[in-house]
Amino acid sequence: MSIHILAIESSCDETSAAVITDGKVLSNFIAGQKVHEQYGGVVPELASRAHQQNIVPVVDMALREAGVRREELSAIAFTQSPGLIGSLLVGCCFAKAMALALDIPLIAVHHMQAHVLANFIQDPVPSFPFLCLTVSGGHTQIVRVDDFLKMKVLGETLDDAAGEAFDKTAKILGLPYPGGPLIDKYAKQGNPERFTFPEPQIPGLDFSFSGLKTSILYFVRDHTREDPSFVTNNMADICASVQKRIITILMHKLARAAGETGIRDVCIAGGVSANSGLRAALADYAEQYGWRHFIPEFQYCTDNAGMIAITAYHKYLAGDFADLSVSPLARSGIGVV
Ligand code: KG4
Ligand code: ZN
Repeated sequence: MSIHILAIESSCDETSAAVITDGKVLSNFIAGQKVHEQYGGVVPELASRAHQQNIVPVVDMALREAGVRREELSAIAFTQSPGLIGSLLVGCCFAKAMALALDIPLIAVHHMQAHVLANFIQDPVPSFPFLCLTVSGGHTQIVRVDDFLKMKVLGETLDDAAGEAFDKTAKILGLPYPGGPLIDKYAKQGNPERFTFPEPQIPGLDFSFSGLKTSILYFVRDHTREDPSFVTNNMADICASVQKRIITILMHKLARAAGETGIRDVCIAGGVSANSGLRAALADYAEQYGWRHFIPEFQYCTDNAGMIAITAYHKYLAGDFADLSVSPLARSGIGVV
């Protein structure tokens, strides 16, 4: 008999549902929330309300696209942590109610673990142990992955995440939220060598991006004082130069992690792994250092339920189920929920 799992992701501002059958993702439906654009960032209360409106149609679409009926489901999975508590609650309560009504098991999934396992949705897949640079709007981590559900964080950001560095730079430049994809777009037309931004000297495998943000703020302030049109006239070169620095900060640490561990299978994951410059840099480093490299397809980089589904499938095989007393957590370490 086939194993069909419905997975729900609602940790931030995307309501997503996916269906996985015997380890293959059959549907991955994602509803974004435009309401936050006018505020320049995600407004938690508005995100929870939008999740409530979206969740029923999104789940319907995912089941329909997969051609799986509710009665056929073997389990329901949801993102338990980390994320905005109100947003997580919507997915958690919905999953609990559905599992109770259908009398099937419930599976609680850690969002960051799921970003890493997005690398198993499509072939080719990495071999254990491998390294994953997980770069999202809230996290920046280098993870050593020994098995599907056995991961260790080797290094992480001490302040801002890489996605935040992109988004905050965009805000300084007057671009709308989320700025990451726009910086990526402008950077393609710009000269990355035109302006130089500092690389922080942080020991070990940890990261820091707050100094970079401050240097960009002063850089823009000083140049705008002399020429009020400086940002508009140099947008592509500024974006290319900032993006280059964010990428070199990430890649230098990833190369160091590969050197220290001797691991040669290297992945990236999370929203910032959609960045074209980072994807190209990973391919370059892989060639230079002899790594095998893996990057999820675009739809599985930013927040999506497909990655929750693949994680849930491995938890299902391991018999790792949650009971109805489970509750979401705004913060928790990878795999520790
Ligand atoms: O993983 P994700 O969708 O949500 C979190 O779990 O945080 O990551 C969102 C982050 C945002 O900061 C967004 O600006 C960034 O990913 N992002 C990008 C690109 N696409 C999304 N950053 C740079 N270049 C992109 N193409
Ligand atoms: Zn995420």
